[in-house]
Amino acid sequence: MSKDFFQHKAGSYEQDPHRIDNVGNIAAAIMAQCELTSDMRLMDFGSGTGLLLERIAPRVSHITAVDVSASMNQQLAAKQAQLACDVTIKPINLETDDLPMQFDGIISSMTLHHIQDIDAMLAKLRQLLHDGGFIAIADLDSEDGSFHEDDTGVHHLGFDREQLAQRARLAGFVDIQLIDASIVLKHQRHYSVFLMTAKR
Ligand SMILES: C[S@@+](CC[C@H](N)C(=O)[O-])C[C@H]1O[C@@H](n2cnc3c(N)ncnc32)[C@H](O)[C@@H]1O
Repeated sequence: MSKDFFQHKAGSYEQDPHRIDNVGNIAAAIMAQCELTSDMRLMDFGSGTGLLLERIAPRVSHITAVDVSASMNQQLAAKQAQLACDVTIKPINLETDDLPMQFDGIISSMTLHHIQDIDAMLAKLRQLLHDGGFIAIADLDSEDGSFHEDDTGVHHLGFDREQLAQRARLAGFVDIQLIDASIVLKHQRHYSVFLMTAKR
C-alpha cells in the first residue's frame, strides 16, 4: 500500500455518525474483553484519525499509532495534544516496513480487510507482542462486496470468523475468542462486525 487511499476521505472521515457509533461499540467490546491497565503500552494498527485509540487512551499509558496514510495521520496529529495518554504516530506500511518494538497489546478497528496477506500479518503482529500480550482486532464479517463504494485498497470482503481464528491459531496465538462487537448501518443495510481477541 504505497498510495494514500484515504486522501479524499480523511477530512470528512469523522462526519459519519454510523462510523462513530461503530468504533464506539468496538472500543466498548475491547474494554470488556481485555484487561487494560494504566502501565500498558499498546499499538493501534491502522489507527486512522484516532477514533479507536482516543477511546482506549484513558485506560493505558502509551499508544503507538501505526498508519500508512499521511492524510489520516495528519488528522490524528491535530488532536494529539488532547488525548488522554501519550501517543506516538508511526507513518509506516506495516505490510512492508519493520517496527523494532514490542507491545503489551495491539488493537485494531476496520483495518484487517485492507491487508493482502493475512497470515503474514498475523505472524508479524505476534512478533510485535511481549509474551502474554494480546491482540484485539475488529473487522467486518463476510459481506457481499456492497460495504465499500470504492473498493480500492480493499483486499477482503470481510472475514469468516472460524477461518480467521484458525489462521490466528496457526500463527501461534492462544486463547482465541470471537464475539459480536457491532453492527454498521450503511446503504439501509446492516453489516456485522466481530472482535477477535487472542494472546501470544
Ligand atoms: C478503514 S480505516 C480505519 C481507521 C480507524 N481504525 C477507525 O476504525 O476509524 C483503515 C486504516 O488502516 C490503514 N492501513 C491500511 N493498510 C495499512 C498498512 N499496511 N499499514 C498501516 N496502515 C494501514 C489505512 O491507511 C486507514 O487509515
